[in-house]
Amino acid sequence: MIQVHPNLQEVEQASALQRRLYRTIRETLRAMAGRLTGVAGWEAKKLLAHDVWLDAEHANGIRQRVLELRFPRVDVEVDLDHALLAVLDHLPSTQSDAEFLAGVYRVVKPEVLAAVERYLQQSDPLDDAPSHRWLRLVRDELREQLQQFASLWATVSPAEQAAAQPWEDWVRAALAEAGGVFGQDSGRPRLSRPSFSDRPRYAIPPEPQRDPRWLPAVTQVPPRPPRTPQEQQIWVAIDHMNEIWASELAGALVWHHRGLPWSLYYDAARWAYDEMRHAMMGERRLLAYGFEPGVDVPIVPDHWRGVGGRGGLEAMLFVVHGLEQGGPQWKAQLRSELWQLGDPYSAQDCDYDWADESGHIRYGQEWIQALYPDVPKAPPPRAHSPGSGRLEGLDRRTTPHGSAWLRGVPPADRSQVRPDAAAAPPRVLPPAGLQRRHHFLRSSRPNSCLMKAFAPADPLNLGCVRPACASAAHGP
Ligand SMILES: [Fe+2]
Ligand SMILES: [Fe+2]
Repeated sequence: MIQVHPNLQEVEQASALQRRLYRTIRETLRAMAGRLTGVAGWEAKKLLAHDVWLDAEHANGIRQRVLELRFPRVDVEVDLDHALLAVLDHLPSTQSDAEFLAGVYRVVKPEVLAAVERYLQQSDPLDDAPSHRWLRLVRDELREQLQQFASLWATVSPAEQAAAQPWEDWVRAALAEAGGVFGQDSGRPRLSRPSFSDRPRYAIPPEPQRDPRWLPAVTQVPPRPPRTPQEQQIWVAIDHMNEIWASELAGALVWHHRGLPWSLYYDAARWAYDEMRHAMMGERRLLAYGFEPGVDVPIVPDHWRGVGGRGGLEAMLFVVHGLEQGGPQWKAQLRSELWQLGDPYSAQDCDYDWADESGHIRYGQEWIQALYPDVPKAPPPRAHSPGSGRLEGLDRRTTPHGSAWLRGVPPADRSQVRPDAAAAPPRVLPPAGLQRRHHFLRSSRPNSCLMKAFAPADPLNLGCVRPACASAAHGP
């Protein structure tokens, strides 16, 4: 039996409402992607990267539906909704993590959710079945996003929440002034309120923010290549964790370059989340080994300092694209080695990382072609050889030594490797002698030394890279 829905909604209206939904989600995710660099809190950074990806999926499905509703009239990208876009463009112009999160997660996203719920209520589930199918998914995932945000917001101090309240109030009022999410654009100028509406437009900072709990450092690179299976596990985890920089780069491109084709933003949103997933793989391993990321091992955006500082975002785009060319082959090799060493979990991380890389190579090519149409397409990656297979810095510790050291490891020593993380209890490594705090090349404490933090029996046996270090506990 066909259910008779009491509400009627013409195709023209359905198209217009979803077009505005698409624009709202697209511009909000662009703000979130750009703010990945500007948000310091680690938990907030992970939440943003995840939701940038989901939002891009939502926007893409809604966009496709708008296109098919009035095919062949293609007006989903038409320059409309000026008042709405002017408000959303101001979302990242915030002065704290709390302000930004409040504007997005306490104002815009609840409004988007309310709009989706209202659309589902007022439209016919048979006539408009394709919209219903997709918007039900959007509704459910938005609810999950808001639940996860609520957990995060509960950890924000009352003082920080109170300080963010005036900004949140302005975003709410400005969005209403623009006509809201579910309705017609008012066409009015952005709601004026001194100290809020007159802030400068957000620009990608020269260096991404890092969690205030993490110690300052100058490089993510351990002082030498790994010498043991245990070290190889840890080195891989450190490299993975530091891929935050690549996630932030993909997000920064999305914000910094306005008016590009949707497909570029869509791909880069996935790119940003993939790289954050890789960082989370490293975090999971490091926690399982007993390290506190950012305290026991450095988390440093050194690519932003070294490359971005001289050549900007575009230079980093070329660098990451170059690194990713050899990623699949190199990650396949790492996967094989870690598997042979008896660490199926690190091997699996590299396996999925490898799977992501083929997509990233395509994303990089498309972004480079869009920004530099005269640059010839890069040749396909060559077979891996030491120094040629590189992925976001992983080569620097492992490329020249990977298979060589694996062949040299006696079977008995391979037992040092511990299956870790998801299947193992936390803090299975390192041994007691490594529990003390250390930090590679810690810049804030010039007299500190990684060597001194380790007991003489330390199986890692790391050498000190400081020429003037007086540590007698270990030889260099
Ligand atoms: Fe990666
Ligand atoms: Fe990548």
